[in-house]
Amino acid sequence: MSTPVSKSDPPKSDSVPPPRAQAPVKPGAKIIGTGHYTPERVVSNVELEKTVDTSDAWITERTGIKERRIAAKGELTSDMAAEAARRALASAGITADQLDMIIVGTISGDMPMPSCAAFVQQKIGAKHCPSFDLSAACAGFIYGLSIADKFVRTGAARYVLVIGVELLSRILNWEDRTTCVLFGDGAGAVVVGPTTEEEANAGRGILATHIFTDGALAPALLIPGGGSREPFSAEVLEKKRHLVHMAGQDVFKAAVRYLASASRAALASVGLDAKELDWVVAHQANIRILEAVSNRLEIPMSRFYVNIHKYGNTSSASIPIALDEALAEGKIQEGQTVLMCALGAGISWGSALIRW
Ligand code: ACO
Repeated sequence: MSTPVSKSDPPKSDSVPPPRAQAPVKPGAKIIGTGHYTPERVVSNVELEKTVDTSDAWITERTGIKERRIAAKGELTSDMAAEAARRALASAGITADQLDMIIVGTISGDMPMPSCAAFVQQKIGAKHCPSFDLSAACAGFIYGLSIADKFVRTGAARYVLVIGVELLSRILNWEDRTTCVLFGDGAGAVVVGPTTEEEANAGRGILATHIFTDGALAPALLIPGGGSREPFSAEVLEKKRHLVHMAGQDVFKAAVRYLASASRAALASVGLDAKELDWVVAHQANIRILEAVSNRLEIPMSRFYVNIHKYGNTSSASIPIALDEALAEGKIQEGQTVLMCALGAGISWGSALIRW
């Protein structure tokens, strides 16, 4: 039986809740699991020299790429995506039926309709959760992460699977040396889930995402034929207009400018200085683009995670592949800040800032 406390009794020190320095931060969103998959077949620059008018020296010097992975005959975009997804789910410690949403950033899905996400959902055994593709080319993963962050943060979803996947080798013109040497196939995935109140109070999780598009630059990088503007025809086939066309230097200039500005937007929105960043996991398009962004932001290249030499440009898959590898190598530690930025066809670009 408890003793009644008179109003005149002094309060016992342990019965008074400690004053809160500030109101608790609303739980946010964080990446709770990562995974990636790349096809087995490695195609080196030297091997490409046999079929394309190029050289290992040119590709290495202009891009930093030494080799790329090419999907096996019969291997599908949704196969690669599903494998990366299974690995991300295992790392998150959740099962596919716990997913509330699947977002697949891709411009090289199995077929124009239905979405690649629908096939992925079926392959991993996630039932009935909304699943859709997102067309933002190389920026597809950052766009997907931004959407997942909003759904989880508002409580509309608990677990969102975000995949970046491309099977570009089947939509490249292998006679066009200005494009075919740059790209590779692969998939990366993350699971986004809620932060605990403790993590939110410690400022951990996804701190900011920013996404942009400038449609005036669309002609710089596109697949002009095979859509409703130029329906598939013998002429489209003959002129190879169903394959990737690119004005490389226009894309290069836009990439340097906008990757830097999107990164600055991310840092400014949370009051962080570039010097305080631990890691930059940027879209792996070209080592010279990364070096130029490093110069502009005054962040040394030693803080950029780079794996372009192994995979080439895997478009929307490049950031989640790099992130998964950086984590597996123990590079990214709890409490560290990680900046991500990507740019691709659209022109669409964006950034994400995370405290791990
Ligand atoms: N092998 C050998 N020579 C080549 C090759 C090749 N694969 N490709 C082009 N060349 C030649 C050109 O014909 C040209 O020859 P010329 O001087 O006799 O006319 C010469 O090399 C120089 O060509 P440039 O186009 O000026 O080379 P540049 O230094 O601009 O590099 C590149 C080209 C690598 C495509 C560069 O512009 C680039 O990386 N752009 C960004 C594109 C990109 O990353 N796109 C991916 C999608 S978007 C994204 O991920 C950001």
